[in-house]
Amino acid sequence: MIVNQQSYRTIWPNVQAQFVEIIDQTKLPFTFEIARITNLPQMIVAIKTMQVRGAPLIGAAAAYGIALAMIEDTCDDYLHNAATQLIQSRPTAVNLKWAVQRMLRLLLPLPAASRLSAAWFEASIICDEDVVLNKAIGQHGLGLITTLMQTQARNQIKDAQSSQINILTHCNAGWLATVDYGTALAPIYAAHDAGLAVHVWVDETRPRNQGASLTAWELAQHGVPHTVISDNAGGHLMQHGKVDMVIVGADRVTSTGDVCNKVGTYLKALAAFDNRVPFYAAVPSPTIDWMIQDGIKEIEIEERSADELANMTGRLANGEIAEVNIFPVGTKVANPAFDVTPARLVTGIITEHGVFSPNQLKAAKI
Ligand code: MRU
Repeated sequence: MIVNQQSYRTIWPNVQAQFVEIIDQTKLPFTFEIARITNLPQMIVAIKTMQVRGAPLIGAAAAYGIALAMIEDTCDDYLHNAATQLIQSRPTAVNLKWAVQRMLRLLLPLPAASRLSAAWFEASIICDEDVVLNKAIGQHGLGLITTLMQTQARNQIKDAQSSQINILTHCNAGWLATVDYGTALAPIYAAHDAGLAVHVWVDETRPRNQGASLTAWELAQHGVPHTVISDNAGGHLMQHGKVDMVIVGADRVTSTGDVCNKVGTYLKALAAFDNRVPFYAAVPSPTIDWMIQDGIKEIEIEERSADELANMTGRLANGEIAEVNIFPVGTKVANPAFDVTPARLVTGIITEHGVFSPNQLKAAKI
């Protein structure tokens, strides 16, 4: 993606100098900063504190975490230990486990002396593949948007002035959440680039505000029309015909099509169902967990710090960035970071292989 006229991915290595660089997402939207990660503990901190975040990106970051661990020691024990620490750093998104297990499968059979260079190479392949998958998701999603536009025009649902498609999204499943292009936002970028009139309703996404801070920032960088709304406004907009479709990302999708994504997604899916608004999850295949069937029972939901809810970071009138506390002192707080939308509320899952209903997904086993 282009930031300040320069092309970026969210993560990239310097293999010769043995470090990885990332866009530090904890600094956005206030400043665009690059952080250097030189060892495994730093990568684990980056994942836990969400300097890097979003399911596909934490998978890529974990793969580089393994490469950084191999600089320290290439023995089996060290590799297993690094893998365990990385997998535990964020438990819900299956991409992280998927990437680490892929690294283990490749590295364990190799002689210790070959492991470091192989790890750097495999991590770069995981990143390149992510870009290819997301581009394909963008094209399949573009097909859906085009069809919806044509249907609305044919049925004269909208007049010429209001022929834009309004898409609601939750959290950030854009290029910042992946290596590039994004998942939920990939179809939107593809539609915008193809000259279609798309407008995005961006859920603020409390508590960490990934919608207001990250999705709004990256859509603005790309010139896509968008409006930030409070997390509670989506249902109201749907009742008034102001949302044509919902597209979200996912941290894990079961083989039966249950979609686990940022907390609040489920409520949007319920409202969409009630208002007959199509609800799609854009999902690259590493996000599908074929081992589980029941998302509500089987997916571990990450519980995050109370501070994320009680404290907010913003820009003061004097331009300074500051954190403020907004709760009464001592308030009890619960902060589950994700929820599960049951398959019955999901219209379709947009993958790199095409768009599947939850029923078709199981049969397709892509
Ligand atoms: O807690 P986060 O910011 O990592 O959560 C991100 C999301 O919920 C995204 O929607 C999901 O990871 C898909 S990213 C393509």
